[in-house]
Amino acid sequence: MESVLIVGGGTIGLSIGWRLAQQGVDVQLFDRQEAGRGTSWLAAGMLAPDAELQFEELELYAFNRESLSRWPDFVTELEEASGQSVDYRKEGTLIVADDRDSAEALKRLYDFQREHNLAVKWMTGEEAREIEPFLAPRLHAAVYASFDHQVDNRLLLEALSEALRQAGGVIHEHAPVERIEPDEEAPAAVLGDGQRYSADAVVLAAGAWSRKVEGITRTALPPVRPVKGQMLQLQMETPFELRHVVRGPDAYLAPKSSGRLLIGATSEEMGYDTRVTAGGLYDVLEGAWEVVPGIYDLPVTETWAGLRPGSRDHAPILGWSDAPGVLYATGHYRHGILLTPITADEIARLLLTGETSDWIEPFSPTRFSPEEIHPTR
Ligand code: GLY
Repeated sequence: MESVLIVGGGTIGLSIGWRLAQQGVDVQLFDRQEAGRGTSWLAAGMLAPDAELQFEELELYAFNRESLSRWPDFVTELEEASGQSVDYRKEGTLIVADDRDSAEALKRLYDFQREHNLAVKWMTGEEAREIEPFLAPRLHAAVYASFDHQVDNRLLLEALSEALRQAGGVIHEHAPVERIEPDEEAPAAVLGDGQRYSADAVVLAAGAWSRKVEGITRTALPPVRPVKGQMLQLQMETPFELRHVVRGPDAYLAPKSSGRLLIGATSEEMGYDTRVTAGGLYDVLEGAWEVVPGIYDLPVTETWAGLRPGSRDHAPILGWSDAPGVLYATGHYRHGILLTPITADEIARLLLTGETSDWIEPFSPTRFSPEEIHPTR
């Protein structure tokens, strides 16, 4: 594989591009706006497989956990390559309950986590406040997920863009890919202004916009949809200094070393609507204030709505598609930042060696192919 076109300059596209360019591949990446300013920029940077464990998603959990274990080396290498910090923080995550109902739900989650040997710890409210004094005095209980870490996603994107450029990759900004022309030997991408690029492979990593591209049949396109998340940013001011990620029943708080405090997020099926609404902000602010009341006096510095790429089964879509020469790396839903190292490593490996690793095999795009759903008898 000598040349690859990447459609989408979020954390997934940039990191795949970086891995390929490191191996001498000619990488051309296209973003419809400034690279790294889409959904990944609007995320919270949480690396939280334990806290976000869902009862029905054990295979995805193993994948998430493996990606988490690759983060420390990934950070070291990326920071060295880019000369920039990504603010990797290891204080851990506190999942808290603020009433009887949420304490019951938290206990069920904790029992399930322990059944699957997750290294989480049950704490009384008092024990939790000892490690995180800004938690509300009335909180009953907490689960401490010490391995759920975080990065500053905006610093991550800046570092990845820099590392990709340093490795020789080319980033085309404000260059929307309108059409992909699948082909086994020389697939191509055609931009809005008619410019046509072809290479040995095309990687579609356009997140929630992955179905917007023309040239691929409807059934072969990845089944992703936008899931809206409204968030806001506060600026921490002395003496307020939250250190842990805190997840309450209705909101999470993710403090960055720069003083940015990210609060999110709604989960809404609203198509491509990115309006910020009073109700959306009210819900997440109230949820955050219930568990960390000290945010009350902090200044609001930004509000936004991002679009998560939710696949039909909420797992990522990784590997060769039914469109010849076109590979998908999309559908990361709530876990795009967490899944960056494993996606970049395993997609680059697939392109460079032809080997589909056991890690990505369960997430193949062909699981959605019509013949997989209706096998011929
Ligand atoms: N992973 C955080 C979110 O999707 O809101």
